[in-house]
Amino acid sequence: MEGYERHTYGDAFADVYDEWYEGITNVDDTVRTIAELATAAGDGDVVELGCGTGRILAPLAAALPERRVVGIDASAAMLARLPHHHRAEVVLGDMVEALPAGPLAVAFATFNTFFNLESRERQQACFAAVAERLAPRGAFAIEAFVVDADEPSSAVEVRHMTATDVVLSVSRLDTARQRAEGHFIELRSDQPVRLRPWSISYASPAELDEMAQRCGLRLRDRWLDFSRAPSSSRANQHVSVYTR
Ligand SMILES: C[S@@+](CC[C@H](N)C(=O)[O-])C[C@H]1O[C@@H](n2cnc3c(N)ncnc32)[C@H](O)[C@@H]1O
Repeated sequence: MEGYERHTYGDAFADVYDEWYEGITNVDDTVRTIAELATAAGDGDVVELGCGTGRILAPLAAALPERRVVGIDASAAMLARLPHHHRAEVVLGDMVEALPAGPLAVAFATFNTFFNLESRERQQACFAAVAERLAPRGAFAIEAFVVDADEPSSAVEVRHMTATDVVLSVSRLDTARQRAEGHFIELRSDQPVRLRPWSISYASPAELDEMAQRCGLRLRDRWLDFSRAPSSSRANQHVSVYTR
């Protein structure tokens, strides 16, 4: 999407993110699983790529009081929404370029955040940067959806409607380029039109596995979600855990 930059998503959604996406995935399951991966890995930092408003980062840091927990995000507006008094370290920057030196016990990206990396090259660079820093028993966990190639190539849906306001979701899917993008369009009777753009570059589970393999990582677990329920080849989402 022309004009779309690394901070665009976060800057556009920061004021509504916690309200719109509350309960989108299970925070307790995510925190428990990441904490257990960290314990199993031994020494090392825990890093969230694209930590946003701290939905996962803040409770995770509280659950790991002895550990350095770092969140990276490209949007200052998202980071400004982190709860007061959280104990995580926060870095404003790009999830590929601003990774801490390590060793990393766990690096993770929840809720399709990895697909915010706008090209296959950047996604591969992210795998390489994590692999370089991963502790010997460290883990890289990615939570992502699986795109159904039969989905319509463009769609307009009503997200919210009252007598005075409407929120429309417009989206477009390019399966050849593996890109999906859209806007939430807010029309309110007493305010100017507001656009909230998003744009992602998606990869299949098999493509993620290939990227991992190219930098010496292998798939250790694939679950349906962070509850560690079994995955299935027909599932529309997965959590994949890569290790050395
Ligand atoms: C869908 S939100 C997810 C936030 C959080 N992980 C969660 O599960 O609630 C994606 C986040 O990734 C951030 N982001 C997008 N591109 C980024 C990049 N290249 N580097 C760091 N953060 C990025 C956005 O600013 C946004 O906060």
